[in-house]
Amino acid sequence: MPASSATALAHPNIAFIKYWGNRENGLRLPANSSLSMNLGDLRTETSVEFDSELRQDELVLDGHVAGAEQLQRVSEFLDLIRGMAGIRPKARVDSRNNFPSGAGIASSSSAFASLALASSAAAGLQLDERELSRLARRGSGSASRSVPGGFVEWHAGENDETSYAETIAQPGHWGLVDCIAIVSEGHKSVGSTRGHELAATSPLQTARLGSVNERLQGCRDAILGRDFQSLAVVVELDSMLMHAVMMTSTPPLLYWEPASLAVMKAVRQWRAEGLNVCSTLDAGPNVHVLCEVKAGDQVAGELTKVSGVLRVLQSSAGNGVRLL
Ligand code: DP6
Repeated sequence: MPASSATALAHPNIAFIKYWGNRENGLRLPANSSLSMNLGDLRTETSVEFDSELRQDELVLDGHVAGAEQLQRVSEFLDLIRGMAGIRPKARVDSRNNFPSGAGIASSSSAFASLALASSAAAGLQLDERELSRLARRGSGSASRSVPGGFVEWHAGENDETSYAETIAQPGHWGLVDCIAIVSEGHKSVGSTRGHELAATSPLQTARLGSVNERLQGCRDAILGRDFQSLAVVVELDSMLMHAVMMTSTPPLLYWEPASLAVMKAVRQWRAEGLNVCSTLDAGPNVHVLCEVKAGDQVAGELTKVSGVLRVLQSSAGNGVRLL
């Protein structure tokens, strides 16, 4: 086997139109298409080395040997790569984030996007962007969206071949900033993978899915037309619909903390006062506050004053996954 090691860099992404629930869990075929922006200032670097001397896969995350559950998820992903490349060696995987892993920022997107590129390259596979996005999707759904650059749409598709993400606008198309208000550093109690399984138990999921194409269209148009007012309305509506599904599933999931709500209310107040700003939350209590670059420092400064906000991270739009 030739060149057996590679390192790749990927950015996490924040969904403007959310992925919640799968039509098929094994292949991670989502119940709906979704739209996101890569966060260029947050980075995950992953190195993979296949080594025939190893007896089992090894995983180090931010300098610490990973737990059994995380290792198993990565090993299953590496099995896909080994199957595609027709190789047998086990691998050493070393992954590092430049952002606090305890900060509750969805790092599975950048983790599996960088793992998909590093491991496929190390195994001698040359995949194009679409193949890589499909592959990353198998590790974590949102990772499919961290493969292409900038503003990205993941087409739900019909099957493995047609469920992939692609760029709808380059990172420089619109100077948006995500100010992430960290209100809790703890790890989330129920992870996304379990959450996706519960989505269908909510009576609201059908309503959410029934209207998602309209929101996708509205969000796409708002991004392409750089129309912040329209973006704000559709992004907040879609986040609220996903959280309504979460709160009404069996068992119910309630990710918000009092400080999450305080931030959401402050953002609405600032918008009523004329500032271009809106909020969205993933499967956790931290609030992603979107605004335009010129207002970034002001918004971040105001957010730190909201009671319960521990700190604020800022990121503008970023590129897709690449080899280092
Ligand atoms: C709430 O991609 O983390 O962030 O495929 O099980 O890894 P798995 O789930 P994941 O789900 C993301 C859920 C979300 C919304 C989104 O990013 O679209």
